[in-house]
Amino acid sequence: MELEILANIKQSGEKELSAVRNLQELENWRIKYLGRKSKLIEVLHHLSELPVEERKKIGHQANEIKNFLASLFQRRQEELKMIQTKEIEEFFDYTLPGKPYFLGHLHPLTRVLNEIIEIFTRLGFALAEGPEIETDYYNFEALNMPKEHPARDMQDSFYLQISEEPRPCAQERGKLRAKSKEYLLRTHTSPVQIHVMEANKPPVRVIMPGRVYRHEAIDPSHSAMFHQVEGLAVDERITFADLKGTLYIFAREMFGEKIKLRFRPSYFPFVEPGAEVDISCLFCLGKGCRVCKHSGYLELLGAGMVHPKVFQAVGYNPKKYTGFAFGLGVERITMLKYGIDDMRLFFSNDLRFLNQF
Ligand code: PHE
Repeated sequence: MELEILANIKQSGEKELSAVRNLQELENWRIKYLGRKSKLIEVLHHLSELPVEERKKIGHQANEIKNFLASLFQRRQEELKMIQTKEIEEFFDYTLPGKPYFLGHLHPLTRVLNEIIEIFTRLGFALAEGPEIETDYYNFEALNMPKEHPARDMQDSFYLQISEEPRPCAQERGKLRAKSKEYLLRTHTSPVQIHVMEANKPPVRVIMPGRVYRHEAIDPSHSAMFHQVEGLAVDERITFADLKGTLYIFAREMFGEKIKLRFRPSYFPFVEPGAEVDISCLFCLGKGCRVCKHSGYLELLGAGMVHPKVFQAVGYNPKKYTGFAFGLGVERITMLKYGIDDMRLFFSNDLRFLNQF
């Protein structure tokens, strides 16, 4: 009788354990088969009621089954624990939203620069670039700004110590300093005019974008580094009217049909006559407001007819050729176009600003 019960316990215990799928089910199984109120323990408790012979036999058998079920339990417990940690490690919730993937965009200065280049390319201008480290000759001298020329004062420069010798020793420092004056970061893109004309015969029609550097205190309208686009057209019979026409088309394409231009006489040593060109104020449309200081106009660029001395410096015949040149500031145009009032925003890498474009 008892032997039959024990055999049943063993059989159903084994069977039910194979259906256990997690640690909670396993615990329930343990209570049922090995717990204090399990049938097995009950049998053991009632052993004393049996005759001695039977007691031995049943007791032995019950203990065997108990050990057997306990070892099954232990093995299953280890298995389930392993499965559980593996599941935690490999857990992946497919319903989670994906990682957002942000697409960047061009910097506002790059966008405007591309637009400027596109407009002049359509007008037949080629593209040229020059070095940012210049010699005094290209940055000033060849542009009719000899040493001690007062116009140099407007373009305070960063001078570089570039030495051909491996390493300057202390005694030679003085010598080097004198020589280092020859190298500087270009203060404008006009020296590229000289490079282009030295390398090409007329006719020439190029724009020359790039970075320029000035030793300036940084404030909302000044930066020690900014961008210019230089323009140059040289041929026989190029006149001031060509300059005006070119700049009118540019301004209309850039700022819209209603824009007006104003040419003010000005002085740059490398042009004659020279002018500063203003556009009618984009904010008040010429009526006068705070931005244009009630003048109705905003300063846009410098321009003029190439000075004969510049032609001489590059070996062009000033009797045969004439030309115009202009230099515009990319930051200034971008600020006008988008109503930005602080140039420092372009270079502070602040996404709250950059994301607006
Ligand atoms: N290079 C001048 C400047 O940076 C601008 C300019 C260019 C003026 C060409 C006339 C002709 O101020």
